[in-house]
Amino acid sequence: MAWRKRLPQIVALLLVAAFTLLDLSCTSEDRSGEEHLLEVGCGVCHSTDTPLSKRKTLEGWRRTVKAMRSRGARISDQEAEKIVNYLYRIRPAEK
Ligand code: HEC
Repeated sequence: MAWRKRLPQIVALLLVAAFTLLDLSCTSEDRSGEEHLLEVGCGVCHSTDTPLSKRKTLEGWRRTVKAMRSRGARISDQEAEKIVNYLYRIRPAEK
């Protein structure tokens, strides 16, 4: 019956494992944000470095995203607007 003595330890280990997994899934949940949107919406034809190596005005990003949608980027109006604002926030240009 030695394993019975170890039962609390085993339970504790399982709990730690469960919480670790839960924590990991929460982290990937966070990635459904803008960064993830850019990856799945804009990183399919070229790398996300293509937009991330540029700086544009808000209008410039809007034009770019519109052009990419006409090229075939599969994003909704809402997602497009999120991406435009995100890119302008992290890669703005004066003019
Ligand atoms: C259907 C394929 C496709 C998708 C999806 C796509 N692009 Fe592009 N993109 C291209 C192609 C092809 C080029 C190269 C042609 C060119 O430079 O005009 C390009 C070039 C670019 C450029 C460099 C030229 C410029 O206008 O400054 C940027 C920036 C860019 N893409 C941003 C984006 C963003 C942001 C998204 C997501 C909203 C996106 N792309 C999604 C096909 C795509």
